[in-house]
Amino acid sequence: MKVAPSILSADFGNLQHDVEEICNAGCDFVHVDVMDGHFVPNLTIGPVVVSSVAKCATKPLDIHLMVENNTFFVDLFAPLKPEYISFHVEEEKHPHRLIQKIRSYGIKPAIVLNPHTPPESIEYLIGDLDMILLMSVNPGFGGQSFIESVLAKAKKLNEMRNKLNPNCLIEVDGGVSDKNIRSLKAVGVDVVVAGSYVFKHDSKEEAIKSLQI
Ligand code: DX5
Ligand code: ZN
Repeated sequence: MKVAPSILSADFGNLQHDVEEICNAGCDFVHVDVMDGHFVPNLTIGPVVVSSVAKCATKPLDIHLMVENNTFFVDLFAPLKPEYISFHVEEEKHPHRLIQKIRSYGIKPAIVLNPHTPPESIEYLIGDLDMILLMSVNPGFGGQSFIESVLAKAKKLNEMRNKLNPNCLIEVDGGVSDKNIRSLKAVGVDVVVAGSYVFKHDSKEEAIKSLQI
């Protein structure tokens, strides 16, 4: 299991310290939550701050867009060369076109599904994706409780991707901790995002290792 700590739970007054700490602690990706105050009721960071994160991160960035105007934000963040850019399928009229655009920048495209969005909604996109991100909380805030129904959804999606695109990873985001990591592994999840669990832990290394099962 790969682990992407979400810097939404970092101390933004000491961002460089916190980013270096999770990278040195052995995380696999640095998860960056971009919120525009429209698609979700919260507002976070833009390319000015994320370019500073990119400079001090020694692990690849996993940028999660929670925005209304996906194309605008893809163009804004692409120069920072993240490993992944993910966008919400609920907010995109032309997901296939946007996937092609992300790939044209040399970035791996990923799609995010809100807790209520069925895996069938992306059946004809799986073949073109590098990762699918399943939200296990309502997007917008860290520190919420894990929504259990994502386990059945991940299981279904795992069967779909094994058939249609075995190289496409499944990522889960929200309320992940050592309490649910085994259940997530059992249904075929490859990557987990963890914000409050990692940043509240005294030892970031111990927290990350406890999820890398
Ligand atoms: C929520 C974000 C998550 C969040 C996860 O909208 O997408 O990445 O930071 O935080 P925890 O792990 O605390 O639920
Ligand atoms: Zn996220």
